[in-house]
Amino acid sequence: MKKNYKSEAEEFSNKEDELTIAKEEKTKREAELAFANEEKANREAELVIAKGEKEKRVTELVIDNEEKAKRVAELVIADEERRSEAEKLKKEMELRKRQMKLMVDREPEQEEKIYTAKLRNKDTTELEISLLLEVVYQKYGYDFRQYSQAHIRRRITNRLAMSRLEDISQMQSKVLNDETFMSSLLQDLSITVTEMFRDPVFYKSLRENVIPVLKTYPFIKIWHAGCSTGEEAYSMAIILQEEGLYDRTTIYATDFNQRALNQAKEGIFSNKMMKEYTTNYQMSGGKESFSNYYTSDDSNVIMNQSLKKNIVWANHNLVTDSVFTEVHLILCRNVLIYFDKILQNIVQKLFYNSLIDGGILCLGSKEGLRFADLSVEYTELDKKQRIFKKKY
Ligand SMILES: C[S@@+](CC[C@H](N)C(=O)[O-])C[C@H]1O[C@@H](n2cnc3c(N)ncnc32)[C@H](O)[C@@H]1O
Repeated sequence: MKKNYKSEAEEFSNKEDELTIAKEEKTKREAELAFANEEKANREAELVIAKGEKEKRVTELVIDNEEKAKRVAELVIADEERRSEAEKLKKEMELRKRQMKLMVDREPEQEEKIYTAKLRNKDTTELEISLLLEVVYQKYGYDFRQYSQAHIRRRITNRLAMSRLEDISQMQSKVLNDETFMSSLLQDLSITVTEMFRDPVFYKSLRENVIPVLKTYPFIKIWHAGCSTGEEAYSMAIILQEEGLYDRTTIYATDFNQRALNQAKEGIFSNKMMKEYTTNYQMSGGKESFSNYYTSDDSNVIMNQSLKKNIVWANHNLVTDSVFTEVHLILCRNVLIYFDKILQNIVQKLFYNSLIDGGILCLGSKEGLRFADLSVEYTELDKKQRIFKKKY
């Protein structure tokens, strides 16, 4: 029997093809499987990484929280410290307030003792005062650095007791930032106490010893240094009128206290003072009725315009400003008493350079030329009344 080899071969070939296809498909499936496995591995790796990052973030958050907790704890401690500091400060302030209250009722000398003994030691007080005076000078140009220490300390201590300030250091910043306070302090430091014909015996001597010298000049320049509210200048104007010299005279009346100068310019004084001023005027050798020199209402008097017309009121600081030239007579009474010796000497030079040769210098009853290098350049016209004449 003849076999059909052709169809067997075809059949065989077909099977081979099927086998090949099946193999290929297997290989393809295997490749797909491998690919899927790889992807799975990748996904797993990604998951591991993501987990790691999550853990890292959690760790960071924990650290962050720990730090926050630490900071909160620190804040709580700081707050507690602040609170106990505030308590301490409050107690200290109450103590000082009680001490200040006690001081208000005492004499300046007592206040000063309490202040220096209880609140600060003396060196600290002096240092604080000198810093305060430096602030006053640097900010406002008023130079109290060479004023008598005792006077300055008393004035500042008084102001401190009257204010709500705790200490002089607080006063420094108050002065820096509050011009109104500075203005009050200036009034404290510049004592403006004055009166008309103050020390009548001095004015008597002026009439007798100075007026005759002035009469020899064709025109006269007079300087009242530290004239305060003007009473001294008006007293001089009255004498000059009575002696027939006023029309050829210019009176320069100066002070560094503008408030006092403004009052001086107005020439308005309390009625209550007139009795005492009238007595002073008469004791000084006044020849008229004192009431001729002013008009009055219920509470005040106003000085006559005829007395004001030759008075030039000017702001001038003896410590920081310069000389007046060719002056025939200087009155600087009860001003130098507040300066220390060095400053007195400096101001004396200013007077010497302002006076003409033969010019006259009048000081206050407790003042003199003791500390002036130039004392030998003067002769005494009236030793007791502190009237000096510059040598030719
Ligand atoms: C006590 S009164 C004297 C007034 C007047 N001379 C008398 O004897 O009645 C002192 C005056 O000196 C002034 N004074 C103090 N230091 C001064 C300075 N550095 N420059 C100008 N005037 C000053 C004060 O302002 C105050 O008006």
